[in-house]
Amino acid sequence: MTGGAGFLGSHVCEALLRNGEEVVCLDDFSTGTRANLAHLEGHRGFRLLQGDVAAPVTAEVEAAQVDAIYNLACPASPAQYQADPIRTLKTCVFGAATMLEFARSRGAAILQASTSEVYGDPQVHPQPEHYVGHVNPIGPRACYDEGKRCAETLFFDYRRQHGLSVKVARIFNCYGPRLRPGDGRVVSTFIVQALLGQPITIHGDGRQTRSFCYVSDLVTGLLALMRTPDAVTGPMNLGNPAEIPVAELAEMVVRLTGSRSRPVFLKAAVDDPRQRRPDITQARQVLGWAPSVPLEEGLLRTIAYFDRVLAGGEGAAAGRAMA
Ligand SMILES: NC(=O)c1ccc[n+]([C@@H]2O[C@H](COP(=O)([O-])OP(=O)(O)OC[C@H]3O[C@@H](n4cnc5c(N)ncnc54)[C@H](O)[C@@H]3O)[C@@H](O)[C@H]2O)c1
Repeated sequence: MTGGAGFLGSHVCEALLRNGEEVVCLDDFSTGTRANLAHLEGHRGFRLLQGDVAAPVTAEVEAAQVDAIYNLACPASPAQYQADPIRTLKTCVFGAATMLEFARSRGAAILQASTSEVYGDPQVHPQPEHYVGHVNPIGPRACYDEGKRCAETLFFDYRRQHGLSVKVARIFNCYGPRLRPGDGRVVSTFIVQALLGQPITIHGDGRQTRSFCYVSDLVTGLLALMRTPDAVTGPMNLGNPAEIPVAELAEMVVRLTGSRSRPVFLKAAVDDPRQRRPDITQARQVLGWAPSVPLEEGLLRTIAYFDRVLAGGEGAAAGRAMA
């Protein structure tokens, strides 16, 4: 597992250990934290290694026995992936290349955490997997969008050229405990602003839509995809098809937190997609998977987490957070 100290990765580590698997996690802690994994560090089946996924494989990693690799290492929040775009692109592309070669040397299956951002600002709605996307290759989001697209290309080239067992999941906005306050993602930003009674900052007119999937649903989907036969490669959309305008999400967060915060509208982000909703027909048919946690319920669990974070420090809450 790469990127296991992050939001999503920490939940995947937890789920794998719960299933009796052994997990070796590689992370450079650039956007993830040890605190996210503190509750797992004493676990017999768990090892945490510090390192850059885009660098050559170290002796420690080389020594690990692996039969399946989840490649999640990469900043996911626009603010974080745009802070050092060259590094983001290298993480996406060199990280994928390094892990694919490692998987090949072990005969291991490898799953890529790809993204709905490969569709860019989509002109087809909702987005099915065969839609090839509408991405600006030179804009400020390109380091991530194009990095993830190139990683997908590498995955399918390894499949065609070396017969590697690959799985590509295109993840749509996911939320839940262990998102970080201040990471710039819309759910964490709105919740923290509402809990602190600050204005809720909406970029653009708020009519742009997103589809939010609670983390436990997403993790179930990722594990199910990894368990599929060799012939199932994806790319496969994983996300919640329930679509909501961002301004409505803000209203919902304000209501659920009982906050008095009011929205303020800021300049729209460059290349921000107008709409986003996964077509999950393939995941339903192949995995028998569909999300089950309604947005209000997931938000309430996430709000409870941020309540603890703001009251007692992120580390304390991170260890206790369960999906
Ligand atoms: N959360 C979402 O809504 C979402 C949506 C689409 C795709 N994804 C993908 O899922 C993965 C996990 O996302 P997340 O939300 O948990 O993000 P995150 O930023 O919380 O986690 C990413 C993890 O990768 C680590 N990392 C980053 N660069 C690294 C490098 N070069 N070497 C080693 N470790 C590195 C970070 O320290 C962090 O622990 C990412 O690949 C992301 O692109 C997430």
